[in-house]
Amino acid sequence: MPVSICFIVPSGLEDIAREEIAEKLVQYPRLPPASKWITFPGLVQCSFQTSGLDINTKTDLCTQVREIQFFSVEKMFLVVASLDVSKDEFQAKPADSTSGKIPWIEWLASCITNCALESWIGAARILNAAGFCPGESSPEEILFRATFLRGDFKHPIANSQTMAGALGASILSVSSNAKVKLENFEIEVLGCLIPGGSFAQLLLGFSLESYSAKAKPISWRHRVISGRTSLRPTIAYCIARMANIQPGQVVLDPCCGVGTIPIEASLTCQPLAHFICGDIELDSIHNKANINITAAAPYSASVVAWNAKALPIRDQLVDIVITGRLH
Ligand SMILES: C[S@@+](CC[C@H](N)C(=O)[O-])C[C@H]1O[C@@H](n2cnc3c(N)ncnc32)[C@H](O)[C@@H]1O
Repeated sequence: MPVSICFIVPSGLEDIAREEIAEKLVQYPRLPPASKWITFPGLVQCSFQTSGLDINTKTDLCTQVREIQFFSVEKMFLVVASLDVSKDEFQAKPADSTSGKIPWIEWLASCITNCALESWIGAARILNAAGFCPGESSPEEILFRATFLRGDFKHPIANSQTMAGALGASILSVSSNAKVKLENFEIEVLGCLIPGGSFAQLLLGFSLESYSAKAKPISWRHRVISGRTSLRPTIAYCIARMANIQPGQVVLDPCCGVGTIPIEASLTCQPLAHFICGDIELDSIHNKANINITAAAPYSASVVAWNAKALPIRDQLVDIVITGRLH
C-alpha cells in the first residue's frame, strides 16, 4: 500500500501548487520518488511507492514532508482511507427527523469501524514513530481533534462541526485510548470531501502539522497585520508563481492593501526582483502594508500612497503587474 499525502491548496490553482510541491519534494533525496499524482478541486494527492520499505522509512517520509515549507499549501495530511460517497446518500435527510440521526453519519461510523480500521492503526503507528504524539498525556492516551473539510458540499441539516463531531465519535468507537481535545491536541483527524459527479470522494487521514497554541492561522502568514479584504497568502503565492517573476524584474501591485502580494511574490524570486506597491488608503500604506513589508523583509520593495488611476510611474518601468480584485 503506497503512502499518500494530501495537500489542501487554493481551488483553481492546483496545477501551480502541484508544481511547487513536486519541485520541493525532489530536493529531499531521502524521500522515495512520488509514484502518482491526483489533482482534485482544491487538493493535490501525492502517493509514494513504499512497498518493501519498513515503518521507519515511512515515518521518515512523513517527518521530512512536514518539514518542507510549501507556500501554496494550506494543510497537509497522511491519507488513511479513501471512500466513495454517493451525493444522494450524503445529502439524504433522516427519514424520521425527530430522531436526529443522519444516515450518512452512521455510514461514516461504520466505514471507520470496519473497512479502515487496519489502515488507521497502521497510519497511527507511522505518526507515533515520527513523534507526532509527543505524549503530554499518558502513553495510553491519544488526545485528538476531528476536523471536517466539506468543500462546496452542503448538507441539509449537518454543518462542518456536526460532521467533525461524527468523525470524532467514530474514532472514539474504534479506539479505546483516544480522547477528544479541541486545543492542545496531539493529533488532528481529518475528513475531506472531494466533489465529483454523482459521487464524491471522502478522504480520511491524520494532519501532518503539529498543534501549537502560539501558531498563527495560515491566513496570517508572513504578516503582522491583516485586513478585511486581505488575500489568502497561499493564493497570492500561487498567482505570483504563475507570473514567473525573473531576477531583475520590476513587479507592481497598484492596490496592495496590507501588502500580501509583494510579500508572497518575493518568495518566488528571492532576492532579486524589485516590488513597487501602493494603495489609495493611507491607513493601508502607513499602518499595514509598510509594517508588514518591513516585518517580512529582507527584500527590495517600495510602498507608496497613490491613486492607481494615475500612477506616478513612467512608461515601461514595470515588467509585471499582479494585483487583487477591487471591491
Ligand atoms: C481587494 S483589496 C486588496 C487586498 C490586498 N491584495 C491584500 O491582500 O491586502 C483592494 C485594495 O485596493 C485599494 N484601492 C481601491 N481603489 C484604489 C485606487 N484607485 N488606487 C489604489 N488603491 C485602490 C483599496 O484601498 C484596497 O486596499
